[in-house]
Parts: sequence; structure tokens; C-alpha cells
Amino acid sequence: MSISNKGILELLGIQFPIIQAPMAGADSPDLAAAVTASGGLGSLACALLSAEQTRDGVAAIRKQTSGSLNLNYFCHSMPTNATGFESEWKNLLRPHYERLGLDVESVQPGVLRMPFDAPAADLIEELAPQVVSFHFGLPETRYVARLKACGIRILSTATSTREALWLEAQGCDAVIAQGSEAGGHRGMFLEHDADAQIGTLALVAGVTAAVKIPVIAAGGIADARGIYAAFALGAGAVQLGTAYLFCPEANISPLYRAALARATDADTVLTNLFSGRPARGIANRFIRDCGPMAASAPPFPLAGHLVGPLKAASQRAGSEDYLQMWAGQGAGLCRSMPAGTLTQTLADEVRALR
Ligand SMILES: Cc1cc2nc3c(=O)[nH]c(=O)nc-3n(C[C@H](O)[C@H](O)[C@H](O)COP(=O)(O)O)c2cc1C
Repeated sequence: MSISNKGILELLGIQFPIIQAPMAGADSPDLAAAVTASGGLGSLACALLSAEQTRDGVAAIRKQTSGSLNLNYFCHSMPTNATGFESEWKNLLRPHYERLGLDVESVQPGVLRMPFDAPAADLIEELAPQVVSFHFGLPETRYVARLKACGIRILSTATSTREALWLEAQGCDAVIAQGSEAGGHRGMFLEHDADAQIGTLALVAGVTAAVKIPVIAAGGIADARGIYAAFALGAGAVQLGTAYLFCPEANISPLYRAALARATDADTVLTNLFSGRPARGIANRFIRDCGPMAASAPPFPLAGHLVGPLKAASQRAGSEDYLQMWAGQGAGLCRSMPAGTLTQTLADEVRALR
């Protein structure tokens, strides 16, 4: 079989076609730096970071490497009709608040995850990463044009061929085909039915046949065989999230790490309980009792606010019952080693398969 990754290596300025997935709340500057320094593409998820935290994160990475870096942003639109959810949502959560000795009525309003905006575009121009990737579609055309004018490569996630064609038409340089096995949020933005989300094998084959831009395969890819299979389907690169959670550089709690180490292929589910959008994570008491998909969950990003206290109390109690533990179906295939070693090992193992 002849496989060529040359185009995408040049496009992204990397040596191996392996991208460490941006993972909001779970990645770290050290993780991104280690992957980039070893020849892959390191990513820093900025969705939950302030401008100051983003600047500090990029500075920490730049102390370790000047290689290609991907900054990642969510570009959802804020819900326009989010009234009427509050009381049903509180009713669903109340028994769990009580179980943890908390009062659902005393939670104060919090800061919401805002979509991509002008200050974010300013910050990217200042920090000048080589690559910017988006989840949930793309921001307004004028922001994409500004970033492209700086020579930044633009990637975004597609969960169907229709979404991939749309991203190509909007000027994306490459598309991340995210199969339903993937850990974390579904990047879906034209699709709305979580049950109809497509597995990585069928999605990557369909997307590579439909678009002319390079395709990056994501979802359930955790070892060299998975990477090789993605290349055989026509992907130019792979994006791995769950595999990098097993690295010491991942910024996750010991409880989450222990759950990952135990996870089998049957332990993850798609749930909307933590944010209002479908995302894949390790099933726990909260997901089993209230979901996995709850009709009363407010739309993204509104649901997260009332779940925050449950997560914090669970963490304090040393229990994984209410933790958000995003993981893909490949968790059982992952190995624990430093991120640079993992990137090199995977690259060597794929070469040996060729
Ligand atoms: C803990 C976690 C957090 C994630 N956060 C983000 C994010 O902030 N932005 C994003 O584009 N994708 C995010 N993803 C999805 C990944 O980009 C990617 O699609 C997924 O990890 C691939 O599947 P895998 O986990 O089976 O390798 C996240 C995934 C995980 C596991």
C-alpha cells in the first residue's frame, strides 16, 4: 500500500502526521510542548482559558520549543431560546445535590463559555501560532479571513461528509474527521442527531472521497494499527486525544487517571449532562442515574453551571460519581508514557507496519 503524508506535514510544519488533540481542562503546556518537540503537532485548548492564561500557556510552550503549535477554540453560538429549562434541570439535579449535602437553590450565576470573538482573534494575531483549530464549526468569516491573512493554517472538526464539505467551502486548510468513538464533545454543527453520528472507519472513508483538502482522522485511534488503518482510508494525519490523557503531562486528577486505566471498550457513553452538548466520557453514577442524555439539560454551554458544584464536591470526597471523565472508546488500548516518547513510539511503530 502506498501512503503519503507529505502534503499535510508541509502544511502543518511537522515531521510526523500525529496531532495531540486539544483537550480543554485536560491538556497542558507541557503536553503540547513535548509533542511538538518530538515532531508531532502539540495543541493547547483555549476554550476555558482567559487571555492571560493563554498567553502564559503559549509562553511556557515557547520556552521549550519553537515548532508548530495549534491553538484551539470553541465557536458555538449562544442559545437564543434558553428559558424554561431551569426548573426541570434543577429537579433532575436536586437529589444529587442533596446526596452531596449541597443546595441547588443557592448556586450563584457563573461565567459562561463565550463563542469566538474579536478579542480572541486579536490574541491569536499576537501569539502567532502556526495552526488554529476550531470545534463546533467556524467563527464568523471575517475572523477566519484575518487568521488566514497571517498565514495561520485553519482546521476544524467534521462529524459527517456534509460538515466536511461545508468546512472546505469556508476555506479550511484541512478537516478533522471525528468519528463517534472519539472522547470529548462531538464537534457536530450541521448535524443534530447524536444517535446518527458516524464511526471513524465509515466517516474517514466518506470524507476523504468527498473533499480535496487533507483529512485528519480522529476517534478511537490509540495505537499504531489504528493510525495505519486511518492512513489506509486516505487520512493524511491522525488526531489522538485519549491516548495522550495517559501521559504524565496530562492535567487530570488521580481519580480520572485511575478510571482511565480501568476503562474497557464498553465503559464510555455519549452524554449531554455536563455541558448540554453530546460528549463521550466514562460512565459513572451521575450519567447512569440522570442520563446519559437528558431532555431537560439546558443547551450548551448553559448546562455546565449547575453541574460544577457536583463535580467539585465529588472530587473533594474522593469519588468519581460526578466527575466529568471524557474518554474515547480506545481507552483500553492506551499505554502510559511521557508524551514525547509516545509520539516517537507511535511514529516508529507505524513505520514498521508500512
Ligand atoms: C478530555 C478531552 C477533552 C477534549 N476537549 C476538546 C477541545 O477542547 N477542543 C477540541 O477541538 N476537541 C476536544 N476533544 C476532542 C478531540 O479533539 C478529539 O476529537 C478526540 O479526542 C479524538 O478521539 P480519541 O479521544 O478517541 O482519541 C477532547 C477530547 C478529550 C478526550
